[in-house]
Amino acid sequence: MSETTLGTETPQAAAVPHPLDEAAVGAAVEQALAAIAAAANLEELKAARIAHTGEKSPLSLANREIGKLAKEEKAAAGKLVGPARGRLNKALASRTEELEAERDAQILVDEAVDVTAAPRRRRAGARHPLSILQERVSDIFVGMGWEIAEGPEVESEWFNFDALNFKPDHPAREMQDTFFVEPPEAHLLMRTHTSPVQVRSMLEREVPIYVLCPGKVFRTDELDATHTPVFHQFEGLAIDKGLSMADLRGTLEHFARQMFGADASIRLRPNFFPFTEPSAELDIWHPGAKGGPQWIEWGGCGMVHPNVLRAAGIDPEVYSGFAFGMGIERTLMFRNEVGDMHDMIEGDVRFSEHFGMEI
Ligand code: PHE
Repeated sequence: MSETTLGTETPQAAAVPHPLDEAAVGAAVEQALAAIAAAANLEELKAARIAHTGEKSPLSLANREIGKLAKEEKAAAGKLVGPARGRLNKALASRTEELEAERDAQILVDEAVDVTAAPRRRRAGARHPLSILQERVSDIFVGMGWEIAEGPEVESEWFNFDALNFKPDHPAREMQDTFFVEPPEAHLLMRTHTSPVQVRSMLEREVPIYVLCPGKVFRTDELDATHTPVFHQFEGLAIDKGLSMADLRGTLEHFARQMFGADASIRLRPNFFPFTEPSAELDIWHPGAKGGPQWIEWGGCGMVHPNVLRAAGIDPEVYSGFAFGMGIERTLMFRNEVGDMHDMIEGDVRFSEHFGMEI
């Protein structure tokens, strides 16, 4: 056995440098510094830190070897490994600082808000003026303590005509005026006015009754500047003890002033409806009319006919009532100077937008 084979080292082991070998430590430091410098971001730097300063890294291994050395060798080994680890820690700290600064700068770029960019807002719609007006009318009557009533648009002929005292041969029952729903034996139609709600309200409610019914009605008119086969009316009905034409007049005048200003007034002209007696045409004095203040035909009204009260089971000797009905499209036309019915039904939002400020 020669002296060179002292200790436990084998020839193969001699080829692998000892962890505390100066050249090996130097190489480990160089590799670590290169990896730290090459780390392009904080994740890569973290990987480099684990590989070169973690528990299994060459330098940690070397550090652990120091413990195994004889006391007098420890100082020299410590001087080799300690500063090497110090250099790495310093390099890591400064590279971390650099990469964090880079990351923060990138966040500022990525999350920058361009306050000069044109907004891409979705265009808000607008409520249709007919809906706005209908609500405004309803609000005025609710303000007087009235209730809002509804009825079906597909109506039975009895409610639309018979119960309202239309004789069997009344011309309004003709096919030219009314949309009937098949089969004819069903006696169903698209209601031609909101007056059937008078009868329905009287059958469904207890007297006294104060109801306003806004809704769609249908007539076989061709669409033109002033007609449309589908339009809207509102029907008013009051049933109580002792109601007279004076109550009708007072109610309508108050309503007219709410809609057209304190200078508005109304006038009643004799007319005929099968379901009211006496009946009147209602004109409004419109102070703000386009062509200057003037009388404008607005709707129909009258005292509910005794036959209608009877059809709804109400004793005309005890109760009386008044009713009125107006067109919403027509009201919008002369109140807001809409010249052409087409504008109201075409659904172009630019038309509705003009009415956005209405309250
Ligand atoms: N229903 C009638 C019409 O459509 C209007 C009206 C209602 C008249 C109530 C009198 C009373 O023309």
